[in-house]
Amino acid sequence: MPFTTPEPAAEFRDLTEAYLQDETACVSKLADTVRRSPGAQAAIQKQAATLTDGLLEDAKHLSAVDAFLNAYTLSSEEGVLLMRLAESLVRTPDAATARLLLRDKIAAGNWLPHLSAKHGLVKLGTLGLAAAKSWIRLSGGAEASNIIAQLGDRVMLSAVRQAIALLGRHFVLGTSIAAATRRATSLSDYGATYSYDMLGEAAMTDTDAGRYFAAYQRALDHLAATSPAHEDLHRSPALSVKLSALHPRYEYAQRDRCVPVLTERLLTLSASAKAANIGLTVDAEEADRLEVSLEVIKGVLASDELRGWDGFGLAIQAYQKRAPAVIDWVLNTAERHQQKMTVRLVKGAYWDSEIKRAQELGLADYPVFTRKAHTDISYLACAQKLLEAKEWIYPQFATHNAHTAAAILRMAGQRRDLEFQRLHGMSDGLHRRLAIKHGFATRTYAPVGRHKELLPYLVRRLLENGANSSFVNELLDADGSVETLIEDPIAASESHG
Ligand code: FAD
Ligand code: 2OP
Repeated sequence: MPFTTPEPAAEFRDLTEAYLQDETACVSKLADTVRRSPGAQAAIQKQAATLTDGLLEDAKHLSAVDAFLNAYTLSSEEGVLLMRLAESLVRTPDAATARLLLRDKIAAGNWLPHLSAKHGLVKLGTLGLAAAKSWIRLSGGAEASNIIAQLGDRVMLSAVRQAIALLGRHFVLGTSIAAATRRATSLSDYGATYSYDMLGEAAMTDTDAGRYFAAYQRALDHLAATSPAHEDLHRSPALSVKLSALHPRYEYAQRDRCVPVLTERLLTLSASAKAANIGLTVDAEEADRLEVSLEVIKGVLASDELRGWDGFGLAIQAYQKRAPAVIDWVLNTAERHQQKMTVRLVKGAYWDSEIKRAQELGLADYPVFTRKAHTDISYLACAQKLLEAKEWIYPQFATHNAHTAAAILRMAGQRRDLEFQRLHGMSDGLHRRLAIKHGFATRTYAPVGRHKELLPYLVRRLLENGANSSFVNELLDADGSVETLIEDPIAASESHG
């Protein structure tokens, strides 16, 4: 029988219509909802400049990891080589293959031009890479197998593994929930709370899913036992959950099979979160899993067990053309169940793979925007929609971008019934200012887990921090001039035609 795409459920019709809509028309509609008078826009730019000034000060004291990611951006050949090396090395179990891999990648790079990096440790690392390349040449090329070459390689391999572990430690709060909560206590000097994410995603088998489920449950038990009982749910710690960790066939074609199981598993975790008065957010993953995630969320929300708990919610990706329709769906669902929900607005972490997947499938258009300014405009339009839905939605704005934060500051006015969120290892300075100078609650997304579960998360962070278009990377390049960094996305989009 030929494969036919199933009819979308009636309640997802708006989402389906928005899926591959024309980008220009879509952005133009969104921009009209957040276009400001010249005076108001100037005030936002000024606010963004003030926030960014402070950040440039912080950037002078860059961590070695930030400086490294800036020196080896993904637009440089060496940045891509190192990213590939990091990605494949953690998956290479045997020493002989690891050694070949290392030789292959290091021999291919032109490291010396990166010596212009300002940070001392980055200079040192670059010298190390250049020396390693000379060593490979001297010891007989990429395939050398003599004993001296092997000894030298072992030293190089151990240095590279340590560098990857350092990257891991930069973005991961702890290897266990106990270690992570201990570290969180020592870091929260401006009152940030945490949302813990137990690393692990894309379970391959039911055994994997069982293991990840147990890790989430253990984390909830630990938080319940050790965190002070907060009366204010939104100042308590929270848990972030990836549905791909909880079922090996979390996909549209398998929805009849996975939705009931995922709903049951998520409901069990949510009931524990409710009992401990902490929040639980379902992370947003690949675009083609969106409807399935909403089915599961709807099932959980319908349960009487969770009545009266405002801590359940989801992340929504502004880079998807469907983002405003998803907000409408959440609003209707929350109202239908008379249950307030949390919504974490993100721009989206899977951009490169969404573009690649749409091309592989030969889709007529992309489900995500193809220009950075368009995602920024969508984010602001969605932020406004969330703020307007205050009866049913508690908004959480997850961003590291000072212009985005400044625009939200303006929209929020005197309101403080919302929070800003950041990823551990990124934008601490911006969030410190939002908390201390502007009185906003802030929360840090904190991955927890061991080295072998870290890889997909680490690769997304390397892509995000290494991309030329990303705010955090541009900031490090700014050298005092912040104009393009804090440009109004509507002006940027229109000047581009
Ligand atoms: P900016 O530098 O302003 O924006 C970068 C973003 O712009 C990219 O990540 C991408 O989304 C978008 N972009 C880049 N280039 C283009 C282009 N050419 N065309 C269109 N868009 C482009 N992400 C998820 O997907 N799911 C989650 O559940 C999730 N949870 C998060 C939780 C927290 C607390 C935080 C802080 C982030 C989370 N993220 C999640 C990651 C998030 O998507 C990225 O951190 C975010 O996109 C970075 O945006 P920014 O405003 O900080 O930076
Ligand atoms: C990610 O896992 C933070 O959910 C986001 O990349």
